[in-house]
Amino acid sequence: MFIFNSSIGKKFIQAVSGAFLVLFLLLHGTINFFSVIDSFTGKYGVVAADEALFSKGDGLFKMGCDFMSLPIIDIMVPILALGVLVHIGYGVWLTIGNIIARGGYKRYEVASKAATDSWSAKNMLVLGIVILGILFFHLTHFWAKMQLPEMFGIGNFENNPYLLLNVTFGSWIVLIFYIIWFVALWLHLNHGFWSMFQTVGWDGKTWFKRVKVIGTIVATIIVLLFITTAINACLQANGLLA
Ligand code: HEM
Repeated sequence: MFIFNSSIGKKFIQAVSGAFLVLFLLLHGTINFFSVIDSFTGKYGVVAADEALFSKGDGLFKMGCDFMSLPIIDIMVPILALGVLVHIGYGVWLTIGNIIARGGYKRYEVASKAATDSWSAKNMLVLGIVILGILFFHLTHFWAKMQLPEMFGIGNFENNPYLLLNVTFGSWIVLIFYIIWFVALWLHLNHGFWSMFQTVGWDGKTWFKRVKVIGTIVATIIVLLFITTAINACLQANGLLA
């Protein structure tokens, strides 16, 4: 079948699953950024004593986490996991195909110095591996303490997400790991975004430049949301924001 066999078909699947993950990151980054807004409104760390969802007085970030635990969103988790698996599976498959087609790992050394020939383009697989590796580390910090106990009854449920933010980002070493993660994510998204549009055919001369700029803006917004959340939590945890 075309979509599975041809290189453009595989890239199409890669683009669609990538677009889905970009939407997840925008939502996830926005909800996390609520914790920064909470710092300005004096609601950082404010969680009502009851364990009910959307309790009056809860901080914005806590409400965002409540939203993420609604059944409708829980249904999305397996779809998200599938999206990640498809994206990784096709990413590896595409890269291996490219290496074989170019006759070895020293790809891109041939005459073509196309615009794709950037550092990120050459290293999408490596960047993907770094992102995935630190993703597992990340899941142990939040998902394993919130969704896992809630969904499968494994471990102790933590109702205060600010506490998890403080425990995680209170450590400078962990903060540095996360920042490396965000930089890898920026490089991956920055290249992946325009590559996605190129795949679906938006690669005319005028649009090529515009899509590249839009991609850089989207990647920067996503990564800034995460970075400010992490740095703010680190400052909060270490009492550096009076
Ligand atoms: C400052 C950075 C981040 C913080 C504070 C953060 C926080 C959280 C929290 C609180 C959860 C539990 C569920 C929820 O409320 O959404 C979670 C889950 C998750 N995070 Fe993050 N996250 C960050 C960055 C990222 C990044 C960069 C990625 C992907 C590259 C990511 C991927 C996920 C995934 C896949 C889950 C599990 C699915 C889900 O429950 O929504 N997170 N994260």
